[in-house]
Amino acid sequence: MTRMYHSLPVSAYTDQDWFDREQRLIFSRSWRFAGLVEDIPEPGHYISVQAGLNNIFIVMGRDHRLRAFHNICRHRGTQLIRAVGKTQKALTCPYHDWTYDLEGNLISVPDEEREYPGGLDKSCLGLKPASVDIWRGMLFVHPDPKAPSLVDWFGPVDPLLGPHQPQELVEYEEARNSYEIRANWKIVVENYIDVYHLSHLHSNTLHMYDHAAAEYGWKGPHYHFWEPPAAAYAKNLEQNLPTPRVIPEPHVGAWVPMLFPGIGIGASEDSWNLFIITPLAPDLTRVENRTKLANVSSWAYSKQAWRSHGFWRSFGGPKYSGQDAAGADDPMASGDFTAEDIYACEQQQKSLTSPFLEIGPAANGESPITNHQAAILDFMAAQEALDR
Ligand code: FES
Ligand SMILES: [Fe+2]
Repeated sequence: MTRMYHSLPVSAYTDQDWFDREQRLIFSRSWRFAGLVEDIPEPGHYISVQAGLNNIFIVMGRDHRLRAFHNICRHRGTQLIRAVGKTQKALTCPYHDWTYDLEGNLISVPDEEREYPGGLDKSCLGLKPASVDIWRGMLFVHPDPKAPSLVDWFGPVDPLLGPHQPQELVEYEEARNSYEIRANWKIVVENYIDVYHLSHLHSNTLHMYDHAAAEYGWKGPHYHFWEPPAAAYAKNLEQNLPTPRVIPEPHVGAWVPMLFPGIGIGASEDSWNLFIITPLAPDLTRVENRTKLANVSSWAYSKQAWRSHGFWRSFGGPKYSGQDAAGADDPMASGDFTAEDIYACEQQQKSLTSPFLEIGPAANGESPITNHQAAILDFMAAQEALDR
């Protein structure tokens, strides 16, 4: 008998076969976050990203246009460029020095006459294009050069994501980080969209928002979520915000959508955060965080920090302390909601291989989890239908 985790088999969280199918049918056939527009400021700058089975890079051409290409040399397939960088005019493959211009055309082949005495039609050997598009200051790539636009993909959910304009904010570099979680990527998504856990796992770390008043739902495979500040936080909200506002008054609350597949955003009155989920193995997931804050003076930041200091000094702390804490490095005693989430995800993954695992009934606040599982099944079924 197949053991189930709500509407997916438990093997969807543990088996290489499922992982490979998701890589092929989901991550190779959807828009992948690649970076922020400011990551490619000038002609010759590039970044690359793994989109399922495809490595794709975006480069700015001499005409200041962004183009995306599959990172595959047309000679013997070597990856052309490294992760992030800048070139002057051309992209040269390290293996035999075939060289392409910033627009993807093959422009030079070493020893061409001697090595290809019959001639070589370089015009048919340009880099294979992929799609690139920009949405809310973010760069996305799609392996298919004819992919429908991001407006089509995110358009229906866009009005529910908050009034933030990330392109007008500045990155807080110290908050940029990347870490691995020993759990399947869907466990990480399910944790992110689990409304039920907010008041429990994070009873002392996210209680500045009123989880009971959360409004959430779906637009296609994309999840949207908003919740208002809790009474204690809202009472003197302008004073209590730890950093200056990024959205105009009277907008308040936290918008925490999870766009498909695995593109989390966490935006509030005073910050805008990215939470990009990348599956690495059935039981291993990478998360990349980037944070943007208000583009105002350091004096404005200092002033807001002083104003809010009194509130934060007496608000929040660890879930477990004293005898309940398992030592100084217990994530449940950290007072850090991310550490709490990672701990819960890893502890859950550990049980998935036990023959005694039997998943209990889903609570109301867990309906996003079963919805996400349905979105996974629907997306894969639609892609498999296209292949037939
Ligand atoms: S594989 Fe790139 S030049 Fe040979
Ligand atoms: Fe959480």
